[in-house]
Amino acid sequence: MNFLETYSELLKLVENRIREVVPKIEPSRLYEPFEYIMTAGGKRLRPVLTLLAAGSVGGDPKSALDSAIALEVLHNFTLVHDDIMDNSPIRRGRRTVHEKWDSATAILLGDVMVGYAFKLLPDTRMHERADKIREVFTNELIEVCEGQVIDMMFNEKKDVTMMDYLQMIDKKTARLIETSAVIGGHIGLGSKEEIEALKHIARNAGLAFQIQDDLLDMTADQQDFGKKIGKDIIEGKKTYLIITALQRAESTEDKKLLDDFYENNGLPENRVKDMDELFKRNGIYSLAENEIDFFFGTAKKSYPFLKKNQYSEHLIHLIESLNKRSV
Ligand code: IPE
Ligand code: IPE
Ligand code: MG
Ligand code: MG
Ligand code: MG
Repeated sequence: MNFLETYSELLKLVENRIREVVPKIEPSRLYEPFEYIMTAGGKRLRPVLTLLAAGSVGGDPKSALDSAIALEVLHNFTLVHDDIMDNSPIRRGRRTVHEKWDSATAILLGDVMVGYAFKLLPDTRMHERADKIREVFTNELIEVCEGQVIDMMFNEKKDVTMMDYLQMIDKKTARLIETSAVIGGHIGLGSKEEIEALKHIARNAGLAFQIQDDLLDMTADQQDFGKKIGKDIIEGKKTYLIITALQRAESTEDKKLLDDFYENNGLPENRVKDMDELFKRNGIYSLAENEIDFFFGTAKKSYPFLKKNQYSEHLIHLIESLNKRSV
């Protein structure tokens, strides 16, 4: 099977299993938004990566299905809470949970999703590495919260360096992508070397992924992206674009705009276009693209440490297909 055939088959497995495991019970105030967020689309990058990782080490991808869903549920929990933190009105082209219902519902939904995510992981009777898988999963949950709070703290901080930023996105975004690959590797009983390679590949792809997300926040088509364009500027987020612009911009006009952004923790919506022009004038978008290439290039260095089989080939294809993504 070629990549697209395999990908669509794995995607179908994921979508079907999601529909099976989403609870359709009372109280509907909790389980309706559960279904709403879980069936709103999304790329399903993390669960597909888990399945491919299991196959890449010689395991059966299907044996990793419930763990893969656990990772997607955990991801969706982070999105529901993230949208409250970021005041985001739309996600996956639909109203966010806290907008459609309210913040209390969105908080409780996130909490209950963490519980369901854990329930989907194998226990020690089902898998010899169940304890390891739980440990990796728990550490990811802790780190994503740390990353998210650091992201939030940056709103009040004026001197966020590129190093600070990279450490923050490593936790808030890269770790979950890394964990998705690592858990797949463990389910497939991969060797230490294979797990290390999966970890390195997915972590670097994860860093690239967040820089891409920052870039797409300004450059994507809102319809395709499914999220409000320019939101990071409005919210005063210290993204890759802003930090780079602060290092590069020299004209008085550009410095004034960045000062306004930093002083007011963001800009009003009608000034997002001014920032877009500043980014363009200073070549910030192409610098972001170079950085994305750099991290995908770093990921590539670990490809040779994977077994050669159809799944590792497809995993590499999946990672490579993320570069230059538009959604
Ligand atoms: C969004 O993740 C959150 C980030 C880490 C940038 P995705 O871009 O994978 O979102 P979906 O799941 O496809 O909607
Ligand atoms: C959030 O980063 C990553 C998460 C842990 C959810 P963003 O705040 O940039 O994600 P989006 O753009 O809202 O999806
Ligand atoms: Mg956020
Ligand atoms: Mg957000
Ligand atoms: Mg974003």
